[in-house]
Amino acid sequence: ALERTLSIIKPDAVAKNVVGEIYARFEKAGLKVVAAKMKHLSRKEAEGFYAVHRERPFFNALVEFMISGPVMIQVLQGDNAVLKNRELMGATNPKEAAQGTIRADFAESIDANAVHGSDAAETAAVEIAYFFATTEVFPR
Ligand code: CMP
Repeated sequence: ALERTLSIIKPDAVAKNVVGEIYARFEKAGLKVVAAKMKHLSRKEAEGFYAVHRERPFFNALVEFMISGPVMIQVLQGDNAVLKNRELMGATNPKEAAQGTIRADFAESIDANAVHGSDAAETAAVEIAYFFATTEVFPR
């Protein structure tokens, strides 16, 4: 089915100057960038985005990392986009990520792991609405 998913290129990958290389992987896999913005998240924005992880031991480190520099946020659209993006990203921990995945190639650690991607279609809808107005996703 045609889906949309939320993708974030995290501060580590933006600082490494690999935004274009990561976009090329999305495009080669048939995912289309239908919305995008670069943003330096406030603490409140990062805490709200990751609210489901609030009770996890890594929550504070995650928020600190996500506000350490600008991120590139995009909506990807394509057939089976949620799963396709997760396959492109690889496992959350780059040490476990398959060869040729974004995290295997660009991530340093489970915290600085280069990218975020929605884990399900329902989550994707919530995450997209968190960062984009409906008028900012194309076609409108
Ligand atoms: P992300 O897909 O952005 O969702 C939550 C993030 O928390 C995750 O990627 C990791 O970067 C980070 N994180 C740190 N430690 C863990 C952990 N033990 N399990 C899951 N996520 C973790």
